[in-house]
Amino acid sequence: MSTLDPPFSDHLQEDEITPDQYGDFISSLPTVGFLSQYRGFWFPTWHMQGVLSFQKHFQAHETDILLMTPPKVGTTWLKAILFAIVNRKHHLDLQKHPLLTNNPHILVPYLDIQLYNTKEVPDLTSFPSPRLFSTHLPYTLLPASIKDSTCKIVYLYRNPKDTFVSLWHFMEKNETTTDSFEETFDKFCQGVNPFGPYWDHVLSYWNESLEKSQRVLYLRYEELKEQPTTHLKRIAEFLECPFSSEEETKGMVNDISRLCSFDHLSKLEVNKSGTTIDMKTESLFHRGKVGDWVNYFTPQMSEKLDDIFKEKFHGTRLTF
Ligand code: A3P
Repeated sequence: MSTLDPPFSDHLQEDEITPDQYGDFISSLPTVGFLSQYRGFWFPTWHMQGVLSFQKHFQAHETDILLMTPPKVGTTWLKAILFAIVNRKHHLDLQKHPLLTNNPHILVPYLDIQLYNTKEVPDLTSFPSPRLFSTHLPYTLLPASIKDSTCKIVYLYRNPKDTFVSLWHFMEKNETTTDSFEETFDKFCQGVNPFGPYWDHVLSYWNESLEKSQRVLYLRYEELKEQPTTHLKRIAEFLECPFSSEEETKGMVNDISRLCSFDHLSKLEVNKSGTTIDMKTESLFHRGKVGDWVNYFTPQMSEKLDDIFKEKFHGTRLTF
């Protein structure tokens, strides 16, 4: 018999669950396919242990820089950009830049699905300050140590139609689901997708960015794509390491933009083969375009998502 009755699991706080109870707790959660529902969001079941350990143990530093995203909105790209901006003084020779030989997810790891998924309490002492980490968790589920800290949060989101198409390709390539495109779409519309509902994820950080604009930088994939250098400068300013006029004159902003561009990163050998955190590395780089959804959606699908997001974002200034 389970040591945790399912009805009780709802009342338990994360810090009350001991590691030997994780298995029972996780199997008591509602599931749909490979996803488990935990505190209003859907997580791949195999990530749940890392989510619980991260929530329980992570201690934020005031100097931390945390990249928060829903999946498939350009996380890999922004990891590369943040790493290159923050560490630019150590890597002036772009021919020897760590991004040429390391996938961005190795340089800026996920806390929940990488570091805390492999160890209950990973040793983070080797990460130099400022530490650069990432997570797909919604704001509401972040550990208290992050919410109480003044560390910087960079949030990225994307048009939900392109996000969905990107997710579909990613799941197909990694054989995560046997559902059809239409079935996966229906679930997305019900909020049943990894780290979904998508709208609740976006809103959780939006609300926080309104209250604490000096703490949370809210970025859109489409804007980053349209004017990368403008946003690179904005990011550097937000992180309190603005580009100097000398750096700008030397072309450093353009250099970092090119280094991290889809065309450049996707052609590197390190990003073309093998696996990264159990994903086919090449599946992280698909097309990198804005508006690819038009090639996949029927007018009805497009209208359905428009209606959902109009309702969910009513009363906010959020647009896609
Ligand atoms: P597409 O599937 O639309 O091509 P994530 O990194 O959050 O998993 O997001 C993956 C999406 O970001 C994919 O979108 C991928 O192609 C795109 N992407 C990856 N690297 C990029 C880059 N350097 N510039 C722009 N888009 C990039």
